[in-house]
Amino acid sequence: MAQTTAGHTTHAGHEHAPQAFIWRYVFSKDHKVIGIQYYLTAMVMAWVAGILAMLIRLQLAWPEKTWPVLGRFLKSGFSDGVMNPEFYAMLFTMHGTIMVFFVLSTAPVSGFGNLLIPLQCGARDMAFPFLNALSYWTFLPGCLIILTSPPTRRSPPCATRFPARRPGRPSGSSAWSSSSPPSPWAA
Ligand code: HEM
Repeated sequence: MAQTTAGHTTHAGHEHAPQAFIWRYVFSKDHKVIGIQYYLTAMVMAWVAGILAMLIRLQLAWPEKTWPVLGRFLKSGFSDGVMNPEFYAMLFTMHGTIMVFFVLSTAPVSGFGNLLIPLQCGARDMAFPFLNALSYWTFLPGCLIILTSPPTRRSPPCATRFPARRPGRPSGSSAWSSSSPPSPWAA
């Protein structure tokens, strides 16, 4: 394979038409690009879940301390610098769910699987490149739904679904549980 002009690749015997950046690197059907997209998205989610773990640890390590600066930034999660129980439940729910469904189910299987397995077995691509791309573009909305569920919903997401729903407001738990199905499906 040789690279001629930008975005114009030649293989021995035949040529590919040049592709615009957006089709080549964003809405790509190439298994390598899709694998990298999965991996990078999973790494962003790992950072988010890691920050949530640090907040859990903060509460467990110093339960009697107040955190006025955090309270200023996370107004709904803290009262007078003390972390609310609902906020703590949301932290470990979001941490666990993101780690399991959006990092561990995604980076090794969808990320490395897409990137490496066709190369290792000598296949040109995955069996259904369009479906393969579509699976990433269903995974990404799942990430956005779960990330936006705590700030946009009145009751925080919680695995136990114990926090009371406020009348007329959508529950954070509903957004949380609706974000996960696309993830294993995509993986
Ligand atoms: C399987 C993927 C998971 C990974 C990679 C992961 C990773 C981590 C990491 C790196 C920490 C920080 C450790 C520390 O501060 O000492 C942590 C803390 C924690 N994780 Fe997870 N976690 C995962 C799943 C879960 C699940 C499913 C739950 C339960 C809902 C959970 C609950 C917690 C709690 C409560 C802490 C705070 C513990 C502490 O700091 O003493 N994690 N996790």
